[in-house]
Amino acid sequence: MLKLSNPFSGLESIVEENAPLSRYTWYRIGGPARWFIRPNSLEELQEAVRRCADANLRTYVLGLGANLLVSDAGVDAAVFKFDSEFWGRVEFAETHVEVGAGVDMQKLLLRTIRHGRAGIECLAGIPGTIGGGIRMNAGGKFGDIGSVVQSVQVMDSHGNLYERHKDDLVFDYRTTNISAPFILGATLDLEEDDPDRILRKTKEIWMYKRNTQPLNTKNAGCIFKNPRGLSAGALIDQAGLKGLRVGGAEISAKHANFIIAHPGCTSEDIMSMIKLIREKVFDRNQILLESEVQFWP
Ligand code: EPU
Repeated sequence: MLKLSNPFSGLESIVEENAPLSRYTWYRIGGPARWFIRPNSLEELQEAVRRCADANLRTYVLGLGANLLVSDAGVDAAVFKFDSEFWGRVEFAETHVEVGAGVDMQKLLLRTIRHGRAGIECLAGIPGTIGGGIRMNAGGKFGDIGSVVQSVQVMDSHGNLYERHKDDLVFDYRTTNISAPFILGATLDLEEDDPDRILRKTKEIWMYKRNTQPLNTKNAGCIFKNPRGLSAGALIDQAGLKGLRVGGAEISAKHANFIIAHPGCTSEDIMSMIKLIREKVFDRNQILLESEVQFWP
């Protein structure tokens, strides 16, 4: 039988071919996705996922593109984005909230404050979706999302649905033990509290970041993970690298673990900068910095 060249025929309404990813990343950098898929329901996701399996296509899920560096050549794969209404569900109950994977963490935080529900203030100023946040165990020195996750709904690469519960979930520093490729939604534990108090705490965390991080620049947050007991930013700073430029990429003078993209900056510029930082810090401290930012492909 003749094999069709388009593995997604019949799904044209949700699949775009050769879609530029730069418009979705915080860096505003990156080549196209061979297939860009925006399902509007579980059934549509299931169908597209099964087609990917049949065609042996690699899959990626794009959140808000905040912790991501897409190569200039793009990705010869299927990139899913959960930004239709279906993925934006937010349902409050007494002690928890049920959220879809596409929900923006900052918008959720504002809603929990208004509802007088505490528990995710530590997410203040961290851009991302719930799906991306859970995948990376988003957080910082004030806490992480993993500590409030009660359960997570996931889909495997064959379209099968599962629910993972708190008891068998492990959330570690910027990582979890969720191996399923698609996070669909989650239930988060929250506690009733006074909205003013929650707001005050959120503001304190946000102010800390505003004072120490270059928030109004094109960046992808911290580039490297902190080595155990140390600060990657401090190590890069001590190596005298603040302000260094490679092409359109610059190490922030405010926080050395941030690489800022100036106009014309390419993914290649940022990769070269990452390589250079790792070499310099290794020469000086014999520590190999590990990236926190995700690279596609
Ligand atoms: N420092 C320097 N020079 C710098 C940057 C930092 O000397 O250029 C020093 C600071 O003075 C401080 C120490 O290094 O003594 C730690 O710095 P900071 O308090 O800014 O925190 P961090 O460890 O660099 C972590 C997370 C951030 C998160 C903040 C606040 C990592 C890699 N970084 O930063 O997360 O926002 O705590 O919670 O875990 C991210 O994940 O993308 C991110 C930015």
